[in-house]
Amino acid sequence: MIKITYHGHSAFEIITGDHSILIDPFFTHNKNAKVKPADVKADYIILSHAHGDHIGDTMEIAKNNDATIIAVHELSEYMISKGYKSHGMGIGGQREFPFGKVKLTIAHHSSSLESENLYMGEPAGIILTIGDKTIYHSGDTGLFLDMKLIGEMHNIDLALLPIGDNYTMGIDDAVKAVEFLNCKTAVPMHYGTFDVIDTNPEEFKRKVESIGKKCVIMPYGEAIEI
Ligand code: NI
Ligand code: MN
Repeated sequence: MIKITYHGHSAFEIITGDHSILIDPFFTHNKNAKVKPADVKADYIILSHAHGDHIGDTMEIAKNNDATIIAVHELSEYMISKGYKSHGMGIGGQREFPFGKVKLTIAHHSSSLESENLYMGEPAGIILTIGDKTIYHSGDTGLFLDMKLIGEMHNIDLALLPIGDNYTMGIDDAVKAVEFLNCKTAVPMHYGTFDVIDTNPEEFKRKVESIGKKCVIMPYGEAIEI
């Protein structure tokens, strides 16, 4: 059993029997997050890219928990240079960690530390395989046809997809992504945090259901089990 908690934006906490993993832990400036960095436990933090709304509180949480940060090579090297434990990967690469497998996928977006205007390598999507379950967190991305390939090669139980538009896919493109991925369940993310991405998850759910797929809108701070 895997417990997945949504903390708003693209931040998810995944608890397996023995491990706690955070993806894109953006809490402090995230109006929808009900947790503080000091409250969470993590063995591993997986980052899709370096933008502030994804790195979020990674440094503080990594320091508190002595957590390992998993990210694309450039971002990982940056974290190591700042004294954090980090494991670097490249797009298309997969590696087995104590909690399960992580594979990075392409994501059509950008990745930089905006505060320092520093390039941080390619943005990524994340395929997590834990036991017999597969979770795909697409990161920030536009729609891309290779999602079909991702869906063909991975039996995706849960697809976490941005619907906020402007910076990422909007609702209609994300519905197409659900079709391409052929996932069992879709969960919308990256909406409602800022005015510019204030799209309606109910509309996404309705459209996903109209193509015969399942959608769960996760309330902030609540969990589902798969
Ligand atoms: Ni971004
Ligand atoms: Mn973002």
